[in-house]
Amino acid sequence: MLDIKIVKTTKPKEKPKKDHPLGFGKIFTDHMFIMNYTEGKGWHDPRVVPFDNLSLSPAAMVFHYGQEMFEGLKAYKTEDGKTLLFRPEMNAKRANNTNKRLCIPEIKEEDFVQAIKTVVKVDEDWIPTAPGTSLYIRPFIIATDEFLGVNPSKTYLFIIILSPSGAYYESGLAPVGIWIEDEYVRAVRGGIGEAKTGGNYAASLAAQVKAHDEGFSQVLWLDGVERKYIEEVGAMNIFFKIDGVVVTPQLNGSILPGVTRDSVIALCKSWGLTVEERKISIDEIYDAYKTGKLEEVWGTGTAAVISPVGKFRWKDEVMTIQDGKIGELSQKIYDTITGIQLGKVTDTMNWTIEVK
Ligand code: COI
Repeated sequence: MLDIKIVKTTKPKEKPKKDHPLGFGKIFTDHMFIMNYTEGKGWHDPRVVPFDNLSLSPAAMVFHYGQEMFEGLKAYKTEDGKTLLFRPEMNAKRANNTNKRLCIPEIKEEDFVQAIKTVVKVDEDWIPTAPGTSLYIRPFIIATDEFLGVNPSKTYLFIIILSPSGAYYESGLAPVGIWIEDEYVRAVRGGIGEAKTGGNYAASLAAQVKAHDEGFSQVLWLDGVERKYIEEVGAMNIFFKIDGVVVTPQLNGSILPGVTRDSVIALCKSWGLTVEERKISIDEIYDAYKTGKLEEVWGTGTAAVISPVGKFRWKDEVMTIQDGKIGELSQKIYDTITGIQLGKVTDTMNWTIEVK
């Protein structure tokens, strides 16, 4: 267990007004968690301090070779005033998988969760309560050695910042348009695709800009070898309902193992639906579309929760799904997951934990 020192701000910021449109990741709370790592000493000096700029050497390794990891989860306020987290132990596990891949020292799962609970408790008055809002939690680790050689750093900072946020997409739960990318690739097996690290997102930007220029909000990635099998969307995993069956790409080493992805699979199975985790080719999706069997498509992610897909652009074809409206199953999943997160739907899966 960590012995976390708490230093409260003497200059609390003004909190956003109840009806203020928050956007995503634009506003930050009064405090942050920080812990240092030094080779030979391990993780040390865990503390909650006022949110402030960092002072780092311009030679800090993270700036040059991208040795960093991040996570994303959310805290919610229930109607009776409890603060809930959704499956934080899954983020702790995934964080360590990323750490292993990037040669970053691991953090004990219970310490990771304790750090989150502690900083969220300090800033729990910042958790927004308007519909569709939550406190987005962003833990991350950066390599801080002042050194330009390429090797794992010997020092790191683990930081957690908090951002009261609304919907990830400006359109909220309205279906998004997705560009199927066939020029750039995001990741290949053996690379860092299944790690949650900035490099994957940097690699996605050129395609995202292209998609935006064409009027689409996200990119759907195909596999990096055959350019044929569906992997994931920019900030989400992807699901299809084809002829009554829920299908999602199987985790293959280049796909991010999403917490919401895992939760959606479990929920759909608990409702008696058939769920297949397998390879899905873009041709199969196009065929399903042409034969009227492509019933629903939605993305899943912590930030986006459930994001229905209203249309795909693939080469010169535009596939419109569900007349561009949200499907029945997508809506049911969204209502159930957000209901559990907000304490409104019975949490039969034991997914939420209270921050006390
Ligand atoms: C999340 O959904 O929490 C993520 O980390 C995706 C991010 C690109 C917003």
